[in-house]
Amino acid sequence: MSPNFKLAPSILSADFSNLQAALEICNKGGAHWIHVDVMDNQFVPNLTIGPPVVKSLRPKTEKFIDVHMMVVDPEKLVEPFAKAGADNITFHIEATNDPVGVIDLIRSCGSKVGVSIKPATPLSDIFPILDKVDVVLIMSVEPGFGGQGYLPGANERISEIRKYLNEKCLDRVLIEVDGGIKLYNAKEVIDAGANVLVAGSEIFKSNNPIQTIKDFYQLTE
Ligand code: DX5
Ligand code: ZN
Repeated sequence: MSPNFKLAPSILSADFSNLQAALEICNKGGAHWIHVDVMDNQFVPNLTIGPPVVKSLRPKTEKFIDVHMMVVDPEKLVEPFAKAGADNITFHIEATNDPVGVIDLIRSCGSKVGVSIKPATPLSDIFPILDKVDVVLIMSVEPGFGGQGYLPGANERISEIRKYLNEKCLDRVLIEVDGGIKLYNAKEVIDAGANVLVAGSEIFKSNNPIQTIKDFYQLTE
């Protein structure tokens, strides 16, 4: 039976000196997506990965590369990430005054479009643009670092988005959830309405990351 969700391991918690090994782990475990956390030291305090790294990863995997841009001025990085081979590019609603412009730009570059929302931002800020995106990425921690705890209240936000998407006949839009997802709470996130689970530290800090990916998929079998 195929699982009713996709797992997107976040390479933020992998060994940056050997990202090819991280890709092999995702491949052997059977993960669907590769989640790449882009941080600019402005939108969030941390500083991580840019387009050249995605360009290097691209020929090493056939999996769907999911770029999560936690950056100010997202429009400046759309084309570089698209050219580097990103399958999906997600921007933060808090980072722009022109979300439709960013969406149109991502589409014109040929990538799928995601919009992300921080835990304290009202969901009503993204409702008007959900019909224009492929993915809505709900943050279940404050963006910036791996290894944080899943915030209480995230499940209610997922359920509210699920309800909205159903009511508007927009269930083609995937709900992705990011931050604090572990084997012990993954099922409640799926039950709340998520289609894609991001998991970083639970996978890459475990003793057997390949087995951990498989364990995620067994949760709903
Ligand atoms: C946080 C990042 C996450 C992070 C998740 O800002 O967007 O993708 O890697 O890591 P865990 O699963 O450890 O919370
Ligand atoms: Zn992320």
